[in-house]
Amino acid sequence: MLNRFSMLRSMDFFSLLCCRKLSDGKEPGARKSSTWRVFSLKELHSATNNFNYDNKLGEGGFGSVYWGQLWDGSQIAVKRLKVWSNKAEMQFAVEVEVLGRVRHKNLLSLRGYCAEGQERLIVYDYMPNLSLQSHLHGHHSAEYLLDWDRRMSIAIGSAEGIAYLHHHATPHVIHRDIKASNVLLDSDFQARVADFGFAKLIPEGVTHVTTRVKGTLGYLAPEYAMFGKASESCDVYSFGILLLELASGRKPIEKLSPTVKRSITEWALPLVQGKRFKEIADPNLNGNFVEAELERMVLVALVCSHGTPDKRPTMHEVVDLLKGKAYEKLASLENDDIFKPDLIRNNREFAAIDGSSNGICVQGDAKGDMKQEAVVNLTG
Ligand SMILES: Nc1ncnc2c1ncn2[C@@H]1O[C@H](COP(=O)(O)OP(=O)(O)OP(=O)(O)O)[C@@H](O)[C@H]1O
Ligand SMILES: [Mg+2]
Repeated sequence: MLNRFSMLRSMDFFSLLCCRKLSDGKEPGARKSSTWRVFSLKELHSATNNFNYDNKLGEGGFGSVYWGQLWDGSQIAVKRLKVWSNKAEMQFAVEVEVLGRVRHKNLLSLRGYCAEGQERLIVYDYMPNLSLQSHLHGHHSAEYLLDWDRRMSIAIGSAEGIAYLHHHATPHVIHRDIKASNVLLDSDFQARVADFGFAKLIPEGVTHVTTRVKGTLGYLAPEYAMFGKASESCDVYSFGILLLELASGRKPIEKLSPTVKRSITEWALPLVQGKRFKEIADPNLNGNFVEAELERMVLVALVCSHGTPDKRPTMHEVVDLLKGKAYEKLASLENDDIFKPDLIRNNREFAAIDGSSNGICVQGDAKGDMKQEAVVNLTG
């Protein structure tokens, strides 16, 4: 693996990207590499009207995202680093490196980047329907644009994007920040998984890496939050939370009182155990959903967010399950212990993570030798 810090110091992003190994376009949904390029700061200033406030699409941990238009009329989204630091620089490099390696219809495409002085900017295709988060809980939630068919296709599309990262990209990629604000929606409401700043490349034959915990509260797999053990199945866990969110319109963590919080799995599991699937459906759907598909989505969501990593399906299996192709597997999942009453506690996220207040930051030795830093936020 590349030593990222030395790589970062040299800051030769051009040669870094030239070394990338692109997909050969044979995997399902994979695309031939399209062209990316280096942008000048001047060009991005002009495209975004000098990063005008009116052009701002949103803000995240890395910085602000602006809408822009290039001289050829094409629309772009520009993510501009807020404050320069080694950590931010690392995030920038990882995002550019990973996005430069992957091409898939359900992954956000990289248009290019700009690294001038302390300015770090990443240029993407503009996604006119913004993020899943904005439709479920944000600005667009009152417009009810997510009917059931769209939700199903977003679920399958984002699963295919992640499956590509896990099973087809070379080396394999763990995303580590799967959540509703990182699933963007194109003009046809097709899902594009975005934000690779926390991604890890996994060399062939390696099952997991031990790492600092990064991600968003409510989406973190317990073994990752507690022991920093990152593997593909951590993304599967986060995807399970995302699926429950998509089906129900609820947030991953709900505040029941100033001190008590409930995770979406704790809320959904008793309903599934009582076979009360319809009560899980987002009230904004007004009862307009396909019952069998809702049931499937919820069951898959809950096995994905199983407390025991080995019990979670792979993303390939998730795609087949969501498409209704794995009938027998689904039937066997329904008989899993987690769907029997009284076992709710086994599938909970650990209280240390769940029970915290804002912007949890766990530091120290989680297990003797392991330093843990939970860089998580509660905005998701
Ligand atoms: N390519 C894009 N097209 C359209 N809107 C985008 C694009 N990229 C980002 N956005 C918008 O900008 C917002 C901020 O994105 P950003 O990834 O910086 O933060 P976030 O996902 O909310 O949080 P985090 O920093 O934890 O990922 C997104 O929620 C989305 O609405
Ligand atoms: Mg994001």
